Amino acid sequence: MHLNSIKVLITGGASGIGLALCKRLHKYGAEIIVIDFDNKKIKDLQAKYKDINFFACDITDFDALDSCLKDIFNLVGIPDVLVNNAGIMTNSPLIDLFNKTDKRHSYELWKKTLDVNLNSAFYLTSCIVEKMINFRKKGLIINMSSISSNGNAGQSAYSAAKAGLEALTKVWARELGPMNIRCVAIAPGFTNTSGTQNALEEQKLKKWITDTPLKRLAQTEEIVSALIFVIENDFFNGRILQIDGGLKI
Ligand code: NAI
Repeated sequence: MHLNSIKVLITGGASGIGLALCKRLHKYGAEIIVIDFDNKKIKDLQAKYKDINFFACDITDFDALDSCLKDIFNLVGIPDVLVNNAGIMTNSPLIDLFNKTDKRHSYELWKKTLDVNLNSAFYLTSCIVEKMINFRKKGLIINMSSISSNGNAGQSAYSAAKAGLEALTKVWARELGPMNIRCVAIAPGFTNTSGTQNALEEQKLKKWITDTPLKRLAQTEEIVSALIFVIENDFFNGRILQIDGGLKI
């Protein structure tokens, strides 16, 4: 795919990796559509990037998402690339031995994590791919996974959601490849974003850095370079691209 002639829909594009991708694609001349539920950030970014199409929407609210997609299809058209990037990292052991009153993993936290990271990606992808197929478009779905898909202790919900995304990546690559729609996943290691800083205690973050052969977090730009590679390379399909500084070797 040529970066200057594609429409790219990015969820969670108002901060972190999603925003870094927007900025790079903007430089290359792609048409960009962002869905994010952070109204304040969307307003600020809209003032700065007048030619990026920002839509404020919670992707776990499917009625709101349906109406948002209607606007996107009418105003901008059907995306060539969907980046299922919006996500939340949550941390909780299955049984918390240090909690005297409530030891079990909260079901609400489990459900919320699955809703944002997995269920909304499933729903949104079905909506976009239906249009791609109806209009015989060449397409690409990128799922933002994580090295946590291997199973990180203390991350039942997040690990399950990301492992689910990786399974869907392979299913969709097989199902959609014959229609010229690719599906891939990117699995970053710990990356320097506010999402990481908010989700992990300093001690835990230090431990991840120590365990990483390169002894540092990834920069968002390094994850973006991987995203650009998978967009441009039309033979990359069904694979999970890990960018983790060697953490999981
Ligand atoms: P971030 O927290 O910096 O940004 C996430 C964006 O998603 C925010 O703008 C937020 O408003 C938006 N968002 C969250 N829930 C939403 C919802 N329900 N509806 C609409 N928008 C919503 O996140 P970051 O760190 O840039 O991560 C991006 C993706 O990369 C996530 O899927 C994350 O799981 C994944 N990832 C991140 C890593 C890291 O270390 N930062 C490592 C591995 C994977």
